[in-house]
Amino acid sequence: MLRQACADAVAWPQDLKVAVNVSPIQFHNPDLGLLVASILTQTGLAANRLELEITESVLLKRSETNIRILHELHDAGVAIALDDFGTGFSSLSYLRLFPFDKIKIDRSFVSEMSGMDVSAAIVCAVANLGRSLAIVTTAEGVETAEQLELLRAAGCTQAQGYLFGRPRPISELNFSKQFESAPAKDDKRLTARDVMLVRTSFSLVVPIQDKIATLFYDRLFAKAPQVRRLFPDDLAVQKRKLLALLATCVGKLHDLSALTPSIRDLGARHAAYGAKPEHYSIVAEALIWSLAQGLGTAFTLEDRAAWSKVYALLAAAMQSGASGLGETPDRDQSHPCRINREQRS
Ligand code: HEM
Repeated sequence: MLRQACADAVAWPQDLKVAVNVSPIQFHNPDLGLLVASILTQTGLAANRLELEITESVLLKRSETNIRILHELHDAGVAIALDDFGTGFSSLSYLRLFPFDKIKIDRSFVSEMSGMDVSAAIVCAVANLGRSLAIVTTAEGVETAEQLELLRAAGCTQAQGYLFGRPRPISELNFSKQFESAPAKDDKRLTARDVMLVRTSFSLVVPIQDKIATLFYDRLFAKAPQVRRLFPDDLAVQKRKLLALLATCVGKLHDLSALTPSIRDLGARHAAYGAKPEHYSIVAEALIWSLAQGLGTAFTLEDRAAWSKVYALLAAAMQSGASGLGETPDRDQSHPCRINREQRS
């Protein structure tokens, strides 16, 4: 099964991983690490695109062989997730025994979150633990928008379940839709909490802004190669301008309307650059993706939702500025709105 999963995943977009459950019985094979390594070599899947999910029973006996195997896999670049956390002994000492990349919170806690305070408290505690230890926390079995909201508020990093998609054959997977944001609340207004979340996560972006900007443009051009020609060859100035604009917006989040005229102007300039309405959702995905990649476990579901709201407000203001220009010009065609690069600089 592992060989098949790796062989399938090798054809998927490079930034997608495949997760496979490993039974405790397989740890009876002392050469499990070698077996996995040979499957990766045979199938050509990069080790960092494989995630193995184990349950705590693998660690129950604290067998040195099992821990050695886990370290071999981890050292090779394979991510190790602790599955069904909360259902067995859930000893915190497991987290000391091995540096897990991910804790998966069992579905039973998620389904009881809205009715049982104890389950909600446990989910919050595990999410906080994950954040402190820089471990991704994935909530399993998410079926309703209400559960997702609670998980966001708890600070979980990832969620999976029927709310996002049902199990289906590979032939039915649509990778172009894979990174659509999780269903968000209808309310588009920014709350004080959203402002706080965006400011806090932006303070983490500042020291690594060059990395985030690089991730952003790499992602944007991978998803929409056709927009590359709209940008200058050298993106250094562009990256600085984008981060400076974001910093200004984050500083003014409590009163975004004060920025509206300049954002509308930016939108009008964008129409002249050749940005089309459909590009805005691709930019949204690239922005959220680069923040999630750059900030890792520090970027929770709640941060993601708050950033999505901020982006939506900016994009709407920009597009209202752009529509003031009428037809969006095509950069390759002569148009009165077209400004050449020399004039702009
Ligand atoms: C909320 C969304 C966006 C923000 C905040 C944003 C921000 C910026 C900023 C600050 C600049 C620097 C130049 C200037 O101030 O005029 C810029 C330039 C540019 N942006 Fe955006 N942008 C957004 C969406 C888009 C979209 C959807 C596209 C479409 C592909 C796009 C394409 C460009 C291009 C082509 C340039 C000019 C590069 C050049 O100098 O030739 N942007 N953007």
